[in-house]
Amino acid sequence: MAKKIRVGVIFGGRSGEHEVSLRSAESIIHAMDKAKYEVIPIAITQAGKWLVSGNAKALLPQAIISSNHHEPVAIIGDPTRRGLTRLGMDSEAGRSEALDVIFPVLHGTYGEDGTIQGLLEMAGVPYVGCGVLASSTGMDKIVMKQLFERAGLEVTPYDWFLRSAWEENPEAVIRRVARSLEFPVFVKPANLGSSVGISRADDRKELREAIKDAARYDRRIIVEHGVTGREVEVSILANERPIARLPGEIMAGHEFYDYEDKYIDNRSRTQVPAKLPKKIIERIQRAALVAFQALDGSGLARVDFFVESKTNRVLINEINTMPGFTTISMYAKMWEASGIGYGELIDRLIALAIERYKDKSRNLTSYRPRQ
Ligand SMILES: Nc1ncnc2c1ncn2[C@@H]1O[C@H](COP(=O)(O)OP(=O)(O)O)[C@@H](O)[C@H]1O
Ligand SMILES: [Mg+2]
Repeated sequence: MAKKIRVGVIFGGRSGEHEVSLRSAESIIHAMDKAKYEVIPIAITQAGKWLVSGNAKALLPQAIISSNHHEPVAIIGDPTRRGLTRLGMDSEAGRSEALDVIFPVLHGTYGEDGTIQGLLEMAGVPYVGCGVLASSTGMDKIVMKQLFERAGLEVTPYDWFLRSAWEENPEAVIRRVARSLEFPVFVKPANLGSSVGISRADDRKELREAIKDAARYDRRIIVEHGVTGREVEVSILANERPIARLPGEIMAGHEFYDYEDKYIDNRSRTQVPAKLPKKIIERIQRAALVAFQALDGSGLARVDFFVESKTNRVLINEINTMPGFTTISMYAKMWEASGIGYGELIDRLIALAIERYKDKSRNLTSYRPRQ
């Protein structure tokens, strides 16, 4: 029998999306083919502590975090160790355990933003999903939009400023935004997810309150013209020749798809595949692939759009480089509708991680004369 691939599945993390990550990881661990993979679940607590369980195989993500029988571990930025290092006090302490690949199932801060990817690059372990560049630029709503525009994609008009500029002269910021953008606008912290700190403002007074709130979360703030239209997303898979198939639609249960709608009262509905004319579907697929490649994406992403009601224009909103990954998450549902089941998705992502690592390993890291 072929040797099993040892996969470290990392979940939890220092993020507002910690709980979402536990659910994604639970689905993934459950679905992984145990004949092919040896799964090593690795928890990161809200405080940032890394743990494995004494009897990891039997335990679910939530149970590992709350159990008393876990062991501290770390991934060290030293490629000769190739994996997980035990930090316990016993004779095992300092011992390293090789991992063939890591699936960082972390959403939001310290997970989807290039930081864990940087650590895994340093450690020399193949990992699922986007690298440092795509993760960090895809997390930043300002840089992301600038790159999308450069790639020829349409985005809603926006403006951005530093929190320090706001604190120095709030009235000047309000004047500038009100002059450059038409109401309603959406105010967002540049680097966050799950709609945290995002509000809609219909006039200057609401704009002031919205900026005050966003400024609690980030030092850079983006304000966008509000689009009236449908919210449509599409999944992407693969490295150098990515594919996008059938999009899905989100129908928000609130005024917009806010935090409560996403996680608390679940009033939103989804439609997979989205009911859209073929021409618009093709535009969405093409734009999603352009966006993915503009950021040098790899592995997977979900790309979100608005289809503007009056004009049918396809406006790109954002890319998510580690979207929610349960069996009922949009990412998986859109692949399911397109003929790729959940188990196959995981197999392909792991294979892509190894392929990308091998390709990168071909690069010289120091000068050698031409042959
Ligand atoms: N410019 C906009 N016009 C209309 N609705 C918007 C706009 N920006 C955000 N929204 C609404 O807010 C939600 C969250 O914004 P988004 O930029 O996707 O942030 P997050 O990264 O937190 O998901 C969107 O799903 C959408 O419902
Ligand atoms: Mg979003």
